[in-house]
Amino acid sequence: MDWTKLFKPIIGLSPMADFTDSPFCRLVRECACPPMAEGEAVIFREMLAAEAIVRGNKRTLGSLAFSQAERPLVQQLFGSDPEALAKAAQIVMQTSQPDGIDVNMGCPVYKAVSNFNGASLMREPNKAAAIVRAMKSTNSLPLSVKTRLGWSKQDEIVDFAQVLEQAGVDAIEIHARTKNQAYSGKADWAAVKKVVDKVKIPVLINGDIVDPLSAQEALSQSGAKGLLIGRGALGNPWIFKRIETVLSGQPDPGEPSLDERLKGLRRHAELQVEYYGEKGLVKLRKHFPWYFKGIPGFRQFRASAVRISTMEDLDRLLSDIRTGPQDLE
Ligand SMILES: Cc1cc2nc3c(=O)[nH]c(=O)nc-3n(C[C@H](O)[C@H](O)[C@H](O)COP(=O)(O)O)c2cc1C
Repeated sequence: MDWTKLFKPIIGLSPMADFTDSPFCRLVRECACPPMAEGEAVIFREMLAAEAIVRGNKRTLGSLAFSQAERPLVQQLFGSDPEALAKAAQIVMQTSQPDGIDVNMGCPVYKAVSNFNGASLMREPNKAAAIVRAMKSTNSLPLSVKTRLGWSKQDEIVDFAQVLEQAGVDAIEIHARTKNQAYSGKADWAAVKKVVDKVKIPVLINGDIVDPLSAQEALSQSGAKGLLIGRGALGNPWIFKRIETVLSGQPDPGEPSLDERLKGLRRHAELQVEYYGEKGLVKLRKHFPWYFKGIPGFRQFRASAVRISTMEDLDRLLSDIRTGPQDLE
């Protein structure tokens, strides 16, 4: 994969720990088919600890697995030690062979920043540059960094992005909030324009993109070459195709119908079982609130939804929702 040669705008799935696993990424890919004409959907897999990969932690190494259908796929890593990240990238390159590697320099949670990784790297540009240089020197895959506008101020990213570019990074994805904002307030897409004007590498905009209108606004305010969608894709793997359709000048197909959503959930369940075995359905429960969001009258099915552990349980629930009280429609 070459970040500069992908069709524009790039429309990607943002990495989300515990959510962007292989079954969900496959579902997104299936819903984005037939292959997009104008945009290109790149899938980002959730962050994995570089140190755990280097130590040979079985569970972490197992999380590297993906199906060929998920390509183009970028594996995200986190860590703070340049050597460990470079070694981990080498291991990833030799084992799962994704299309790109990404480093998390934006995660705001205490566990990340107190270990000097995630967003804390924005406060240590020299170390961030050392990480990029070390990873580039041992690894031929394209390297990207996912970060934020800054630690506390929205313009910190302008210098930070240039440091990353000079160190050799191939693309940058920016969640248009600061670390201190975490997920509060509204993403400031226009703040990313200052970065786009300063660097030559592709910049992808991220944060609060949930439909074609917000996608158009985010791209036009930031001037970015593409966008990443996180929460907007949960329970809604069709969003990529919908946005691509509108950006290529065709009419908006609109939100999926109730029937499409239930069929999508059923397909997600099949993929979960294929990948995890039947325990995949228990793991699927965290996706339910996203699939069922806004379905009137769903409250009465919540108790059975949180107990689903077999395909029969799920089919019964879907059938109950379909034939349920009239106020469901
Ligand atoms: C449950 C959850 C898990 C996330 N995990 C990651 C992660 O592993 N790596 C990362 O860079 N960002 C992670 N993020 C941040 C998202 O990728 C994205 O930047 C953020 O949600 C803003 O985009 P959105 O408004 O489209 O959701 C996570 C977000 C959520 C909600």
